Amino acid sequence: MSTERVVLVTGGNRGIGRAIAERFVAAGYRTAVTARSGEGPEGTLTVRADVTDAASLDAAFSEVERELGAVEIVVANAGITKDTLLLRMTEDDFDSVVATNLGGTFRVVKRASKGMLRAKWGRVILISSVVGLYGSAGQINYSSSKAALVGFARSLTRELGGRGITANVVAPGFIETDMTAELPEETQAEYKRTIPAGRFGAADDVAGAVVWLASDDAAYVSGAVIPVDGGLGMGH
Ligand SMILES: NC(=O)c1ccc[n+]([C@@H]2O[C@H](COP(=O)([O-])OP(=O)(O)OC[C@H]3O[C@@H](n4cnc5c(N)ncnc54)[C@H](OP(=O)(O)O)[C@@H]3O)[C@@H](O)[C@H]2O)c1
Repeated sequence: MSTERVVLVTGGNRGIGRAIAERFVAAGYRTAVTARSGEGPEGTLTVRADVTDAASLDAAFSEVERELGAVEIVVANAGITKDTLLLRMTEDDFDSVVATNLGGTFRVVKRASKGMLRAKWGRVILISSVVGLYGSAGQINYSSSKAALVGFARSLTRELGGRGITANVVAPGFIETDMTAELPEETQAEYKRTIPAGRFGAADDVAGAVVWLASDDAAYVSGAVIPVDGGLGMGH
């Protein structure tokens, strides 16, 4: 039964990752989250990991394997922003965002793929962003790292699609979390005017799409980009 499957969500201590973990728990999955700080929601196993550090991830996966079994569904959610205009963007602003959002996804998925290949079953779900394909002034580093996840999922689909493994991207729009709370009020109001739904989304809206992609109903969906953005990015 799919509801007994083991899922690992990176960055599950807060924001979208936490909402995703809550949904998986509610649906009966054996759910683990990685956290650098804090804890995942009730009913999850919290393991420490920094996605920029392959050794810490390896240890976290081993702990999940010991406690819950091999990871069958992985949600690469951990991500950061360091927004500024191109001319002000430092090498570190660029490199650290790419190392977390893209490099982190690479490390997490590479480690997860071992168990999935053995099981001949797996679900890889990458949390991108509407700005990956839509673009966003002040987010050259972030939008590049998020656009890259589309190529990642599609290449993975071509590599492992014949082994019972799917790889998909979820592209949230503006979702109410710590990440968007940091935006100045006038920027938030400006964004709301451009979103057909007229409001920011909730973390749980994203979680619904993720849990569906993990389900048996989505077995024949791979290499897709699922927007959860109130219509902001349609056509992109
Ligand atoms: N909020 C939005 O509107 C929005 C829109 C589109 C896409 N997204 C994407 O959705 C994902 C979650 O965003 P959010 O809004 O929930 O952000 P958030 O509230 O800022 O949470 C980010 C999560 O990522 C973790 N994280 C960051 N760097 C990490 C690292 N090096 N190693 C391990 N964990 C790390 C954080 O852990 P700590 O607590 O330890 O820092 C935290 O759990 C991100 O990939 C983001 O780009 C968000």
